[in-house]
Amino acid sequence: MKRIAVVTRDCAGVNAALRAIVRTASAKNIEVFGIIKGYDGLIDNKFIILNRRSVSGIINRGGTILKTARSQRFYTEEGQNQAMTTLRNNNIDGVIVIGGNGSLTGAHHLAITHHIPVIGVPATIDNDINEVGLSVGADTAVNVALDALDKIRDTATSLERIFIVEVMGRKCGYIALQVALAGGCEEVVVPEDSINLDLICQEIKKGHEQGKKSWMIIVAEGKAHAQDIAEQITEKTGFETRIAVLGHIQRGGAPTAVDRILAARLGNYAVEQLLCGETDKCVALKDNILYVVPLSQAIQPKHLDAEAYIKLIKILT
Ligand code: F6P
Repeated sequence: MKRIAVVTRDCAGVNAALRAIVRTASAKNIEVFGIIKGYDGLIDNKFIILNRRSVSGIINRGGTILKTARSQRFYTEEGQNQAMTTLRNNNIDGVIVIGGNGSLTGAHHLAITHHIPVIGVPATIDNDINEVGLSVGADTAVNVALDALDKIRDTATSLERIFIVEVMGRKCGYIALQVALAGGCEEVVVPEDSINLDLICQEIKKGHEQGKKSWMIIVAEGKAHAQDIAEQITEKTGFETRIAVLGHIQRGGAPTAVDRILAARLGNYAVEQLLCGETDKCVALKDNILYVVPLSQAIQPKHLDAEAYIKLIKILT
């Protein structure tokens, strides 16, 4: 293997993973093509050659220095064939894809349909890559959201208000559950669980009678919108509510130490796995052990034990 390409999505820690890939590869005399703008760049033959120096000073930077895109064209046969033409014309022997479910699904298709060696590095704030302990970017996202939540709580307690904070997660309540538990919140609303607003309102009224004055309610964007919940709570309880929608601040920012270390280990391991002849696999780390998961399994829905989290959040409220 003489030349590899790297395709990236964006979240905190992706640059740290890219740095680890480039420096591991360069130590083994492998040239690295950094694909510009994700799969679109692979289709359009847009890349830069990365050496040890090109990845200096990026370990602490959020986003991806390669830029990225949600490529619609890569879903088509024509797009994938064009991407393969780019890989063949540039004599690329293997591909590493850093990203979440969509990116790893694309990686799986490249490997099985076009028979080029492909390794995935899990990187998504949703932490929803099946059989992978922790994805790069998830720890930073939880910490960013928690920091915002702690600040909002200052106002919630001072003004004795009910706050509904909307966090990211279209299909998955990972950030919401982590933040609700770490932030000592009263309620959490996630896609993995049914929503019972009447019950929430009853609990608010009961708590109020017992002297409780403020509430922090976390909602994952995929289940409901903070604004709708706030309006319904005000209507049913008569109490004043405020909302905060945290949005993309959760995907950006400097990666935490946990994410940088994870990214370094997974990036290094991804190159090693390619060199060992592995393909169609996703690298992972759990209990301090590095391992690989077939991409076909990694892209399946990941079970999240929302019930256990919610139970604990309720006990600790
Ligand atoms: O998959 C990561 C994620 O950040 C989700 O949590 C969120 O729902 C989605 O991407 C947002 O996507 P976009 O940036 O394309 O709006």
